[in-house]
Parts: sequence; C-alpha cells; structure tokens
Amino acid sequence: MSITVTEKERFFSLKTANSEYQMQADSYGVLKHLWYGKIVHQNMGYLLEYPDVGFAGNLYEAGNQRTYSLNTMPLEYAGAGVGDFRICAASAVHADGSRALDLRYERYTIRKGKYNIPGLPAVYASDNEAETLEITLRDTASSLSVTLRYGVLPELDIITRSVLFQNNGTTPIVLQKAASLCLDLPQGGSWDWIHFHGRHAMERLTERTALMHGIQESSSTRGTSSHQQNPSVILCEPDCTENSGACIGAFLLYSGSFQTQIEVDQLRQTRLVMGLHPDLFQWTLQPNDTFATPEAVLSYSSNGLAQLSHHFHQVIREHICRGTYQLAERPILINSWEAAYFDFDDQKLLKIAKEAAAIGVDMLVLDDGWFGKRDDDCSGLGDWFVNEKKLNGSLCHLVEQVRAMGLKFGIWFEPEMVSEDSDLYRAHPEWSIQIPGRKPTRSRYQLLLDLSRSDVQDYLYERISAILKEADISYIKWDMNRSICDWYTTLLPADQQGELPHRYILGLYALLERLTTDFPEVLFEGCSGGGGRFDAGMLYYCPQIWCSDNTDAINRLSIQYGSSFFYPISTVGSHVSVCPNHQTGRVTPFWTRGDVALAGSFGYEMDLNKISDEEKEMVKEQVAAMHTYYDLTHEGLYYRLTGLKKQDFMAWEFVAKDQSRALLTIVKTDAEGNMLPVHTKVCGLAENKLYRCSLDGEIRSGRTWNCAGLTLHQVLKEYESIRVEFTEVE
Ligand code: DGJ
Repeated sequence: MSITVTEKERFFSLKTANSEYQMQADSYGVLKHLWYGKIVHQNMGYLLEYPDVGFAGNLYEAGNQRTYSLNTMPLEYAGAGVGDFRICAASAVHADGSRALDLRYERYTIRKGKYNIPGLPAVYASDNEAETLEITLRDTASSLSVTLRYGVLPELDIITRSVLFQNNGTTPIVLQKAASLCLDLPQGGSWDWIHFHGRHAMERLTERTALMHGIQESSSTRGTSSHQQNPSVILCEPDCTENSGACIGAFLLYSGSFQTQIEVDQLRQTRLVMGLHPDLFQWTLQPNDTFATPEAVLSYSSNGLAQLSHHFHQVIREHICRGTYQLAERPILINSWEAAYFDFDDQKLLKIAKEAAAIGVDMLVLDDGWFGKRDDDCSGLGDWFVNEKKLNGSLCHLVEQVRAMGLKFGIWFEPEMVSEDSDLYRAHPEWSIQIPGRKPTRSRYQLLLDLSRSDVQDYLYERISAILKEADISYIKWDMNRSICDWYTTLLPADQQGELPHRYILGLYALLERLTTDFPEVLFEGCSGGGGRFDAGMLYYCPQIWCSDNTDAINRLSIQYGSSFFYPISTVGSHVSVCPNHQTGRVTPFWTRGDVALAGSFGYEMDLNKISDEEKEMVKEQVAAMHTYYDLTHEGLYYRLTGLKKQDFMAWEFVAKDQSRALLTIVKTDAEGNMLPVHTKVCGLAENKLYRCSLDGEIRSGRTWNCAGLTLHQVLKEYESIRVEFTEVE
C-alpha cells in the first residue's frame, strides 16, 4: 500500500520507493501539508510552528488563539481571501460577488490504479502500478467542493496531482484561478530554484538562483507553453549537485498558458503553486458542473538532480507518451526544410530521397510548402489541398516513388493556423481568432483558427485524414508558428470569453486524440517554431518534439542540456544540418554535429546531394552509430557530466539499464593555446564490474571509473567531439 490513512487523526501518507508525502486535517478541518522528502515513518506535524505573527489573521473558530493563522501554516491547497495572504491555489467569485474560498476537509477515498482526466492528457498506469487518493474539501460558505486527486506511482517515485471543482449549489460560481499544484515546504531553510527560459531558437536555457523573499515566477501568457519559459521547475538545496543533495521537481501536462510561482514568505516558508495562468483563465461552473485542472507531476530525490531526471524520463517515456512509437525505434528522417525551404518540386525531393535511401536513412519528410498557394510564408495556411502543380502530379504518386526507394514518407502540417490569403479564410473569416472591431495581430503573417469550435476541429480532421488516406504517410510534423492573442470567440457569451484560452487547448487535444486514435501507425512529431510547445501535454499525443529551430551543434548543447532535466532523449528531435549553420553561421565538424544529434531522436536537415563524399561516409557511420547505441540513448540512464558553470567542454553519458555498457560524449566548446587535457566525470557504472574503455583499452572497475573519471590524453580542437565507450569485461 503506497497510500495509508490514520482515520482518527485524519493523517495521510503517500509513500514511493524513496519518498514520503504527508498531510493532515486538523480539528478545524484545515488540511495542512506536513512533509515531502525522504521516508520518515512518523507524523512530521511536530515540525510545524505556530508563531504569533502580527498582521496574520486568525481563524474565527480558534477564538482568542492568536497563534492559529492560515497565513503562517503550510496548507495543502490554499484558498483565497480568508486570511492567508500568500499566493493562493484557487479563487472563485460567488453569486453575491464575494471572492472568498475557505476550504475545509470533508472526506477521502482511496482506490487502486490511477485516475484519469477526460479530455486532458494525464499519466496512465495499470492498477498494479498506481493508487489514487482523493481528498474532498468544501468551501465553508458556498457549495463549491474541491477534490484533490493524488496518483501515486511508487516504483517510479512519482506523485501526480489534479484538482476537481464541483458546484453543488443552485447558483453559478466563476473560477478565477484553479492551480493544479500547491506545495508548501515547511522545513524552513533555503532553496535554489531551477527554471528554463529562452527565446525562439534558444529554448530551455537553464537558470539556477537562490530563492528570494517574495514571489518569483516562470510563466507563459502566449497561449502555448512557449519558448520563453517551460512548465517545469526544480527546487533544490543550495548544495545540491547532479549526484547529491535533495531536490523536488514538478512539471505540468499542459500546452497552453501556465504560471509557476514560488513565494518565500516572512517566515522563510516556501510555497510553490503551478497551473493554468490565472490572467488567461476563467470558468463558469453552473449548478452540478465540474471542472478538472490539468495534471501536475511531482518527484523528489535525495541523491541529486540526475536521479530526479531519471524519474521524470521514465514517467514521461513509459507513462505519458503513447502509441506505436512510444517505445519503438524511431525512424531516422531527413527533413526538406533546411534543404529546400519553399523551393522544391518532385524532382528535387526525389533526388534527396535517392541519396538518403542509399545512405541508410528511413524516411523523407516533406516540410512546409506542399499545399495551397504556398511559395513563401505569406499565404496558403488552412488550404490543406495538395499543390499538384508544384509536385508535378499527385502526392500519392510522389509517395509511391519515395517508397519504391525503400523510404517512408512524412509530411508537415500547421493545422491551427490560417493565412488571410487563403480560400479557407475567405470562406470562414469567423473561424479565426480576432476581436470584433479591432485589427487582429499578425505574426508570421498568419492568424489562428478557433480550435474551441467543433466545426473547425471537424474541418481539420477531415483535411488531415483525407491527406493521410490519399497517400501512404507514416509521419506528421505538427507545427504551430505563433503566440496567441486577441482572444475572442463568436461562440461564447461576453461573460465567458475568458474561457477561450483553455477551451482552445481542449480543442487541440480533442483533435489530436481523434487523429492519433484513428491513425495509430502514424508517428506525430510536435513542433512550434522548434521547441515553443515542448511540454508533457504535447508528448501525450506526439512522442517526439522538434527541440529547436536552431540546429547549430554548439547552441544545441545548451538547449538539449536544459531539455534533459525533464524530457527523455527519445522526445528530443535533433538533426544534423549543413555548415555554415543557417541560424548562427558557425562552422562545426560534421562528426560533432552527428554526436550532438545522437543525443536525441536522430535525423538530417540537408540536401545530401550537396555534401562531400567524405561527409557521406560520415553519414553512414552516424546512421550505424544511431542503431548501435539506440538501446543506450533511448532506454539507458542519462547523466549530465558538465553543468552550468562555464567549462571549455560539455559532456554527457548514457548507461545501459543493466550497466553492461556506457557511451560518453565530449564536445570541446572553447579552445586555448597550450590546451589543458579534458578531464570528465564518469557516472553510473556498476561498482564491482570491470569495464574496458574504448579510448586506450584500459580495464578498470566501475568503482574506479566512477570515482576518478576520465582524462583525455588527446587534444580536442575547438568544436571537436569524441565518443568514448565503456564495455563490461567478463
Ligand atoms: C518552423 C519549424 O520549426 C521548421 O522546422 C519548419 O517546419 C518551418 N516552421 C516551416 O514553416
């Protein structure tokens, strides 16, 4: 039993292999958070302090007890407007206009298996792998109930959370904030927080700073999870490293606007609240209506960040990603974008395909430009009809020729968009998101379709499925190239317009669910100008996401480093492209570009007819390496060997689950005269096994390699890389 309850004390403990999570409802029905950390086997309520702090409101029922204040105690799910002045988890407007939410314990249930959330992505698990705890709280003065749902996956050290609101009364209630997660860390002490920021073509850069008093935030108001911030966060002890120290991580299964806030209060207590961004959220609950929040996923590690990442990699790969390609070997693809942009015809594509087939690539992906009137990015979006003039024939004919060469075929869509210069827009201007009386904001010259509308979803389903049926297509790249604003839908009344941002995402998920269910053999790859919607919500439908539009191997090191804290390698689309690199102008060795792309779902983004014979030989080697190392890179454990501190190289390692071998990659990022040798850590080898190192054939115990690391005696020039293998010796 991973969930235990002491009924009399209303004490709840959730245990995983290496963590324990505790809460308790006190005599006033206030549900307090007591602990999230190592397994302790005792009620940690003794840690709570009840100071008499000036200007902290006291609960009326507590009479003259000045020490009982919602403002000073760790709460499991903080209501609003009743004396806790920290960030709230939820707020609502009642029929009389009041905004208070005073949540008290009512009941609980426990059941085998993991709850799901209809219409939203969620961690899934069998009845033997998970348990669910539901604790229902009720507002003291209204008929709103708030059910906190916890899914416990003990073997994975994972706890999931989602909240279900229900209006049990007779008048509407308007939710204004409905966070998925509220976590109060009462242990005092100080924490660092790690979050992932960036911009288009430079996503998920890692920032670690000490928490300060007050509120710090990482969020998106762009209608997507965004390039700029990621819906994931880590709190760690200041001395926490990759291999030691305590840390807690959380991510959201959500692809729209979100907000992660962390508040350090006057007593140095830390509160983390994560969920839908309240500025872009509102939901009217009519009598008997329910509203379920997106899911948040939590994990704790007492052994540093690497172990925390391993927990997240496993839950995302095995309990969030789905479908035929969830665990199957991904095809090595060659994408036409950087090879041809909009300038292609059937002959150009077939020439690329021919070279690709000869070299061992598995799939040709035809990117933007194959439909409607689309020779640049100013027109055509929405008109998902094949441009047979450009392809000199039908799509089916082209695909047949590609398949005859032994390659599969994939195709690009940007379903959520519409160009004003398109037949779709001319026929259905009301399908686009724009506010009556205002000029819409254009971005990349395009507008958004209102995905909350079922007629829009039906149109897109019909068009995409028609293309999938017309030709033998094995893959879809699902792109999305702008942020969303001008929120307005013709379908909702004025007082419910605030629901559109969430309804848009629900519509997107409904469409993706329909397509992935009806076309289970098609591999969907997510994309939003690269990694602008790189989140676990999208991974529920698309087991890989184009990580960044930036294919520069050196920039990719930072982007893939940041991505690796939460997202497993199999989810990270990563391609070798030509040099000078199209985004940065940098020239890096072909070999290095391959090594960096091998730390992802591998492919190419170039015209293979334009590379040298020597480079073609390297492509063959890289393709072979991708197959040789596949079980390591996709199924093994991933270790970051270098960190945030600026070093003159970056290194990472994959260790097979049975610890029989490992692959370590080093990239020299900075060169100097009279260069010092690279010395790197080695991690995760079995202490009592012997391993041969591929560099010099030296055999040493895993313990020695783990303790002493590896010194490279050869000098790497700037941007050169090297792969080092460790193989168990019987
Ligand atoms: C943005 C994507 O990230 C690129 O890879 C490419 O598909 C373009 N869109 C096409 O417009």
